[in-house]
Amino acid sequence: MEWSYYLYAGALVLAFFVALKISDFIAVARFQKKHGCKPARPIPQRERVIGYDLYKAQVKAHKEKRLLDLSRKRFADYGNTWSATMMGRTFINTTEPENIKAILATNFKDFGIGKRINAFGPLLGQGIFTSDGALWEHSRALVRPNFTRTQVADLTTFETHIQHLFARVPRDGGVVDIQNLFFQLTMDSASEFLLGVSVNSLSSPEGSESNKFAASFDFAQSRLGNRSRLGMLVHIFRDAEFDKACKIVHEYVDGIVDGALERAKALDLEKNIDGKERAERYIFLDELVKATRNPKQIRDELLNVFLAGRDTTASLLSHSFHVLARRQDIWKKLKAEVDELNGAKPTYETLRNMKYLKNFLNEALRLYPIVPGNGRFANKATVLPTGGGPQGKDPLFVAKDQVVAYSVYTMHRMPSIYGPDADEFKPERWDSPSLRPGWGYLPFNGGPRICVGQQFALTEASYTIVRILQEFGDIIPRDDNPWREQLSLTLSVADGVKVTLVPREK
Ligand code: HEM
Repeated sequence: MEWSYYLYAGALVLAFFVALKISDFIAVARFQKKHGCKPARPIPQRERVIGYDLYKAQVKAHKEKRLLDLSRKRFADYGNTWSATMMGRTFINTTEPENIKAILATNFKDFGIGKRINAFGPLLGQGIFTSDGALWEHSRALVRPNFTRTQVADLTTFETHIQHLFARVPRDGGVVDIQNLFFQLTMDSASEFLLGVSVNSLSSPEGSESNKFAASFDFAQSRLGNRSRLGMLVHIFRDAEFDKACKIVHEYVDGIVDGALERAKALDLEKNIDGKERAERYIFLDELVKATRNPKQIRDELLNVFLAGRDTTASLLSHSFHVLARRQDIWKKLKAEVDELNGAKPTYETLRNMKYLKNFLNEALRLYPIVPGNGRFANKATVLPTGGGPQGKDPLFVAKDQVVAYSVYTMHRMPSIYGPDADEFKPERWDSPSLRPGWGYLPFNGGPRICVGQQFALTEASYTIVRILQEFGDIIPRDDNPWREQLSLTLSVADGVKVTLVPREK
């Protein structure tokens, strides 16, 4: 009697799920018919339930530092859009500018960043980089006004950090890994810009509070990639070292935020007495305090922007010097343009007029995009313009919750966009009126979530390059390794950038 009861209940549950699947299937078929869209072609796989073969291949290529070229080869073999299954998830991969434009701009509302908050939340909290929907809109409105031209153009403070960097470059023919210095430089300048107090990692002794903060932030950040790969399992995964690093980061920033809130309170009182407001140097934190007095919200936004802005600029500089050390022709052209300043320190305006430097940075970001791959999760069943059906030309069906990954690295090297010399580092290509990549060039993303720090980053990178070329007349590469990827959240140079910089005669 009891058995038959369980059997009956089990059959009912099964029937319910089968009915649900059938109704889903019918709804999807109707949706596809209505929009004339088809699914993406799957790439060959040993099995498509778990997709363990693909996972293994990805992990191996990542270890061997050739994941980006493997992905590029797949696009060459299977076309610009295809689907694959990895660890139980079927995702779409595309490198079609039209599709990327739809994901990031025209169909923006159909896509989200997924559960980034699960992996990043314990370090960054809820802020512009970790939020979606209304929360993101709120963060964006809070952060965006702080990147106006005047703030971005403050180069006087930045010069102090450049001087600290110069002091760390040997002047006797010694070798320096300049990539390490760039990561310290951007740590110092980002902390100054955001918190109003620089970590000064280029100049301060090890063991100081600020150095502990910098090391803990670096460490916690290095664990974020792995945490993302764990998916939902991240909730049960314990990592005491990560937790400790987050605690140190939070305590350090909280101390500074509390100070700013105290100052703001005092200022309010002062204003009430005589209506005066103190004029101060621009500090991002103080601007946030004008908009909110919630210390957790302030800390979260600061750390979100810190993460988004720090490694990225250092990586752009590292790739730039990887190329400069190997290309005397480019070094000389850049030097000629820098010499037109006659030794004067560059300003925001002079930097904007340096055409070759601009082309050079465009080209560095094309061949070495700092965020080389990205992805979005579909909030609902939707359609992308192309990539569906057997020929990969029909409108493409995207199921609810499906991930669409896109490869900026591959797209930036496509001969159909950049011509037969797409693999060559050629700054001059940006002078050609026939080059109009549109959504085929995307180092800073596009649409409503476009990088807020783009001008800030380009100004800082340009200033650094010009100042180094004003100080040092020549560069000698100190390893002849070909470029290899170092992929974490962003793309840097696997073997570092070991060079000798030769001081100019004064
Ligand atoms: C060369 C340097 C940089 C590159 C290549 C770069 C690239 C990007 C890219 C590709 C995204 C989109 C990420 C995504 O949606 O998944 C992004 C977002 C963002 N970037 Fe940058 N970035 C750079 C520098 C900076 C700097 C210096 C800052 C701030 C000081 C900054 C702040 C942000 C923020 C806050 C976001 C999130 C925007 C949002 O989701 O609304 N970035 N950046």
